[in-house]
This record gives sequence, structure tokens and C-alpha cells, in this order.
Amino acid sequence: MSLLITNGRIITASDDYHADIFCQDETITAIGRDLPSHRFQADRTIDAKGQYVLPGGIDVHTHLDMPFGGTTSADDFESGTMAAAFGGTTSVIDFAIQYRGQTMRHALDEWRRKAEGKAAIDYAFHMIVTELEDAGLNEMDRMVRDEGVSSFKLFMAYPGVFMVDDATIFRALRRTGDNGGLVCMHAENGGVIDELVKEAIRKGHKSPKYHALTRPSRAEGEATGRAIALAEMAGVPIYIVHLSSADALEKVKQARDMGLPAYAETCPQYLFLSYDNYEEPGFDGAKYVMSPPLREKWHQDVLWKGLAKNDLQVISTDHCPFCMREQKELGRDDFSKIPNGAPGIETRLTLVHDGGVRQKRITLNRFVELCSTTPAKMFGLFPRKGTIAVGSDADLVVFDPAAKTTLGVKTLHMRVDYNPYEGTIVEGSPSTVISGGRVVIDNGQFVGKKGAGRFLRRQNGHVSC
Ligand code: URP
Ligand code: ZN
Ligand code: ZN
Repeated sequence: MSLLITNGRIITASDDYHADIFCQDETITAIGRDLPSHRFQADRTIDAKGQYVLPGGIDVHTHLDMPFGGTTSADDFESGTMAAAFGGTTSVIDFAIQYRGQTMRHALDEWRRKAEGKAAIDYAFHMIVTELEDAGLNEMDRMVRDEGVSSFKLFMAYPGVFMVDDATIFRALRRTGDNGGLVCMHAENGGVIDELVKEAIRKGHKSPKYHALTRPSRAEGEATGRAIALAEMAGVPIYIVHLSSADALEKVKQARDMGLPAYAETCPQYLFLSYDNYEEPGFDGAKYVMSPPLREKWHQDVLWKGLAKNDLQVISTDHCPFCMREQKELGRDDFSKIPNGAPGIETRLTLVHDGGVRQKRITLNRFVELCSTTPAKMFGLFPRKGTIAVGSDADLVVFDPAAKTTLGVKTLHMRVDYNPYEGTIVEGSPSTVISGGRVVIDNGQFVGKKGAGRFLRRQNGHVSC
């Protein structure tokens, strides 16, 4: 199968030029202006005139088919990866969970089973670690060396579920110094939050907004600072996930100014939504219950500046959807029982293009860097993924910068009964999406194949500060 994309404006993290792209099977094999048709005869030609051609989006933070909060996230690897493709994402890195008393091997087998035969785009895994004895340390090495699972998420929050103590965090960090893996940290002070939650419930403060009011940005700032200090003492890099607040960003910025290899991602929800959403009438605030919570609006500007100045390196989604019906409803009488998470796998590129590039907060190159190139570099997928180059995977997005979309449950494809951006009109969206040389989204239709996605064994990643 061969594919020729003509007349497009190719945007990578560093370049912006007009050329044709030829793909043979799953690989980009030629790039050039006016590629001669006698040499580059394709089974299909796509005219990208007036549109951008971007490397496929890489979402390094998703939770598909994840048991959490007494239920399971609403998108599985079939519906979630199809929705991702509609949104211009061609690779995801999801999280396998090593529960206490279980091995990482067991967790990886379980999550590979969930994805195999279902995923429509390529996928990889991080490993969530909930305990780490000597055997676990050896398993970490094997995950990195033999399985291509080269990053590990640890939690400083959710006591009794995922939270680990500083000694465990330090052990994990130290080990990545030997095996080259990367620790990804959920940085919120779980002990303080737990006390605040108990106090709120005692006082009868049980509506969704108390989720946010019991998780102050200082609790995120404190944990972020501590995580970075632990990494500094271990002498290794660290990556902070779903960073939501100015307090936490300040800690990352300080560390980076000192030359420490501290990295962080934020997510569209922290750039476009705010604490005000929790004040929506009735139980609607539950739509936005996620951790860390949405912050006061002024934090958004600080995060956008952090993205522009490279204090933040990645935009992921933390896609973790739960329906209002039967799922978020579990916490109708007690906010602490609302499953944490929100949908976003499909709306990342279009939101960041509209709010970032069109509003001139970031450049087109930076847009690609944040949503594709640095994710690939950070997590060991570059240069196979994350750029447009001869030899790279033919994961491409033909992106129409002028196409208008109204975001909402009716126009989107995530398997969830609400959308946090319902009614928002955005400009710029994918018109054609190509994954491994196959067209998966064509004129607004999914034409890919369930199960066509491949498991990606990752190398060790990281970028220089
Ligand atoms: O609320 C969130 N973020 N749910 C997903 C789990 C996590 O902590 O990333
Ligand atoms: Zn988290
Ligand atoms: Zn998450």
C-alpha cells in the first residue's frame, strides 16, 4: 500500500515548508517538492492544498478500560483509540497498574490483553507502581530492558489506593539511575488532602465543588517540590504529570533554572476550564471532578506562559472518562465517591490549536513540539514517531486550520454521556488521519480497523533540559 500526500504545508517542531510526502506501507520513504509521478506512483493520493501536514499526535497520558473509584473508565481500547484517531492522535501511552501483591509482569499482560485486537492506533504502556520491594526493583529493570516499558508512574496522593511513601519513591528514582527509566509523578500531598476531605464530610460539605476546595494548589506545589528534591537527591530526571497550578509550575521552573532535569506536562482541561465549572448548577460540577482539580482562572495564563517558555514540555490529556449516569452519580451524596477523571483524548489538538496557535500564545512549531515531538523524545519513541522524516512511521495528520467544529457529545466519538467543552466552537481540525501508512480518518469517517494498532516497545527517553 502506498500513499502520496501532495501540496501540504509540512509542520514539524523545527520546520515549516511545502512539499509532497510519499509513504510506502507503514513508513515515510520520500519527501520533496513535486515528487515525479513516474517514480512515485501511489495507490492513493491525498491533496492537502491549503492544509497543514503534522506528525501524528502522541498522547502520553490516557486511562482506557481502567478500574478506578468503584467503576471502570468508559472508553476501552477500541472506542478510546478510535476517538483519539478522530482527534489526530496516532499513538497513546496508557497506564498498566501493578496492584499490591501483584507483579508488573502480571499487570503488563493484563493491559496488553485489554488492548490487543482492539486498539485502532499504536499504543505503549507506562507502569503504575504501588509497592516496590527488592523483587519489584528487578522487575523494573526487566520492564525497561525486555518489555519496552521504560516509565513508571508513582502517586503521592490517593492514600490506601495508589499512594506510596517517600522511601518507595526514592528507591524507584534511584533504580531509574541504573536502568535508564523515567519516573512520572502524580504530585499532590495525599495526607493533607485526606484530612481536608474528612473535615469537609464531617461538616456536611458534600457537593462536587468540595473536591476542588479540599485539594488546594499548595498541596500540589508542596508535592511537586518534594518530588523534584527526591529526584535531585537520587541524581535522576523526573517528569511531573497533569500539572495544574502556578504553585507546581513555580517548583518546576526553579528546578530547571538550577539546571535540574525536571520536566512536566499539563492538559487542556487546565488551560481551558477553571474552578468556576464546579459552581455549575445541581450535580453538574461532577463532570469536572479530576485530580488535580481545576484551578482559579488566573492559573491558565501562567500555564500558557510555561508552555511557551519550555517550563512545561508536553500537553497530554489524562483522558479518564466516566459517564454522569451510573458512574459520576456514585458520588451524588458525597463528592469523595465521584470517580476522578474526565474525557479529552479526542479534543487535544483542536483545542490547543484554537486556544494556543490561533490566540498567538504558542507558535505552530511549538504546537507540534508539545503534542507530538517532545512526547516522542521524552518517552523513547523518537525518531520513529513525533516527526515527519524519511524512515519515520507514516503517522500523519492533514489538518485544516479553517475548519470549524462545535465540540459536544453529538459531534465527538468518546463513549461518554457529556463533554466538558459542550457547545464550544473551535477552528482547526484533522481532515485526514493516517496511522502506520493506513488512512484511519477520511472525510470525518472512521475507516481504520479495530486491532490494527501495534504495541510499541519503547527505548529510554528524556530530552535535554
Ligand atoms: O482524576 C484523574 N486524574 N484521574 C485519572 C488518574 C490520575 O491520577 O491520573
Ligand atoms: Zn495522576
Ligand atoms: Zn492520569
